[in-house]
Amino acid sequence: MPQSLDLLYFSPTGTTRSVIHSIADGLGASSTTTLDVSSPGARLSAPRLAGQCLLIGAPVYFGRVQVNAAALYRTLRAPSVGLPAVPVVVYGNRAWEDALLELSDLVTDAGYCVVAGAAFVGEHAYSDAGHPLAPGRPDADDLAIARAFGGSVRDKLNAGPPVPLAQVPGKRPYREPHAEPAPPPVTRAADCTLCGTCASVCPTGAVHCSTEVETDVRLCIRCAACVKHCPTGARVLSNPAVDKVRNWLLRTCPARREPELFL
Ligand SMILES: Cc1cc2nc3c(=O)[nH]c(=O)nc-3n(C[C@H](O)[C@H](O)[C@H](O)COP(=O)(O)O)c2cc1C
Ligand code: SF4
Ligand code: SF4
Repeated sequence: MPQSLDLLYFSPTGTTRSVIHSIADGLGASSTTTLDVSSPGARLSAPRLAGQCLLIGAPVYFGRVQVNAAALYRTLRAPSVGLPAVPVVVYGNRAWEDALLELSDLVTDAGYCVVAGAAFVGEHAYSDAGHPLAPGRPDADDLAIARAFGGSVRDKLNAGPPVPLAQVPGKRPYREPHAEPAPPPVTRAADCTLCGTCASVCPTGAVHCSTEVETDVRLCIRCAACVKHCPTGARVLSNPAVDKVRNWLLRTCPARREPELFL
């Protein structure tokens, strides 16, 4: 196993973060650098990669790598050509479509050798009490699989020079980005204490909190981080477009999907 490992991820609601850290536990590198690019400030410049191996994660939005993550990952450069990388996508139990191939292509373009990859399930951003969509995922079983996967990657790296994955599922050109975003979350003023949590957790800087909470609809990616972290329930993502998607997901994707590993 290379001595030094870079962990790089964008994770508005934390499911990608959990999976990446569990895989890293299994990899067991002696030194690890964490580059969490979930805040707007962390994406102002290209991440400084220096490790001998890269573990990189992103959430799946519309079957693709989430766009803010993809934009940043296009700027990556491996410290030297041919170092091993492991791309990992996390999706809300519907489908990951072209996201893992896209992430693999991004790290290959950066100069890495993709030696393994995986798709894990995380609680869907649109999940709520009335519409449970992969609630609690990744759960203990998922994280055990993530740690074991990290161990298998370590064994593969210990066996010799990096060997690229023969094939990553997905197709090129990748599926078209979604054109019509749903309305963003709103704030129920009567329940809002102006605590500012929604602004501090927003991954795009879309929320401003002073005498009221304002949302920049152009910056909002509908990740629901502000909703999930609001301590009073004042921040809500409930509108006909999102509820329609929730009901469609409940109807069409009821079965539990398991992590898919490529080694
Ligand atoms: C706008 C949007 C689009 C999404 N598209 C998909 C999708 O195509 N397939 C899927 O299974 N989950 C989809 N999800 C769910 C996320 O992939 C899931 O919630 C993931 O766990 C989020 O990762 P994070 O916790 O690291 O932010 C979408 C979520 C949002 C907000
Ligand atoms: S997190 Fe909730 S209570 Fe706090 S400012 Fe935002 S909407 Fe208001
Ligand atoms: S305002 Fe939009 S981008 Fe910011 S946390 Fe809320 S849903 Fe996510």
